[in-house]
Amino acid sequence: MSRYCSFCGGRDSDVGHLITGPRGVAICNECVKLAHQFGGTVALASTTEFLLTGISRLVTNDPRHGGITGTIGNAALVVRGGHVTWVGKEDDLPSAYRRFHTASCEGRAVIPGFVDSHTHLIFAGNRASEFASRLTGRSYTQIAAGGGGIKATVAATRRAPVSQLIIEAGDRVSAMVAAGTTTVEIKSGYGLDVDNEVKLLEVASQIGANHPVDVVPTFLGAHAVPVEFDGRRTDYVDLVCNEMIPRCAPLARFCDVFCDQGAFTVEESRRILEVGRRHGLAPRLHANQLADSGGLELAIELGAVTADHLEHLDDRQIEALAGSGTVAVLMPTASLSLRTPHAPAARLWEAGATVALATDCNPGTSYVESMQLVVALACLEMGLTVDQALWSATRGGALALLEEDKGWLGPGSAADLMVIDADGPEHFPYRPGSNLVWKVWKGGDLTVGGLA
Ligand code: NIG
Ligand code: FE
Repeated sequence: MSRYCSFCGGRDSDVGHLITGPRGVAICNECVKLAHQFGGTVALASTTEFLLTGISRLVTNDPRHGGITGTIGNAALVVRGGHVTWVGKEDDLPSAYRRFHTASCEGRAVIPGFVDSHTHLIFAGNRASEFASRLTGRSYTQIAAGGGGIKATVAATRRAPVSQLIIEAGDRVSAMVAAGTTTVEIKSGYGLDVDNEVKLLEVASQIGANHPVDVVPTFLGAHAVPVEFDGRRTDYVDLVCNEMIPRCAPLARFCDVFCDQGAFTVEESRRILEVGRRHGLAPRLHANQLADSGGLELAIELGAVTADHLEHLDDRQIEALAGSGTVAVLMPTASLSLRTPHAPAARLWEAGATVALATDCNPGTSYVESMQLVVALACLEMGLTVDQALWSATRGGALALLEEDKGWLGPGSAADLMVIDADGPEHFPYRPGSNLVWKVWKGGDLTVGGLA
């Protein structure tokens, strides 16, 4: 497979040799020269062992430390070889660690990196004019029925060359990284033919190589029935099952279906997810976003890893979800953008369901990169406590993606963490819209915020 310069997006066959740094970041000779012309240097090295001290509050998400978020006051944390090896009260720090390279957080809080478990961030163009017409009263479903919506983005994305998608989606991922996201799920779903779905999953993989973030890829060939299959939806489902899944399965971890009014039916979704499972793809489902259309019951029946959106749920469904192993992935920025009621996050938490929060980053219903804004809305609009929202945006997201060592901080966890420029996470809902990130480490590499 081709490799691409992380800075100009050039393909290795065009730009020549690429120098590779940690986590697959690559740079071509031209970009190195350009950096030197501007007086910069290119440093791709990283510190493998370090100690963080002066932590006002350390959110571990380890229940052994108490409460929902296992928060430790006046804490320290040790990283070695990409993993956390010790957390605790700074006063209890074993002396052997005191010789490690040390950075003081000077009274700031440390939390796990955000795990954004639901995005559609690879697309071309935008739908700002549709958004403007929604502000004056047209609905999302009316726009979709008129040929806009997902289909408009599919047309633009099919036309876009890979290099353009890598740069444009890469910009969105850079914004996510700058706001503290260290793991992101990315769905296909704007290709809707075999070659274009493969193209999007390859772009997802390249983005993971270009940026200091883990990418978890999801196949979403059943996002909409493309125009060339108008009136032949069964033929499209056949194509998804017989050709797309076999080609895309090696490039993805999950199979997702948009099971909803105006999208795919329960029967179609069941068939697609079962074929996906036979090809090694774990099922997940867009369910109950636009209507109560049976998606939630299907997710539970199939033992899907996640059921996502869930704006239309009654009490019986909340209990059923809480009694299942399926994670509820909720996206308050989609409801914000659609100006529709939020999913019942607080009731799901109360019932004992596992809740994850995500951005849903996409050009139609949620052009949002910031998990900090998601946490703020979850508190301000959905009624979650700060601890519930923060856990859902970190550990909940990791459980939604089957990423066992992510979303918590303690011996054996990934060293994916951020220092925020505040002494506690309540500053996220208190200051919505601000980027509170001070520094971010991904797998032990400092990726945001300069030398520590
Ligand atoms: O999660 N619900 C389906 N998919 C996206 C919207 C995609 C689009 O409008 O382009 C969502 O909201
Ligand atoms: Fe979505």
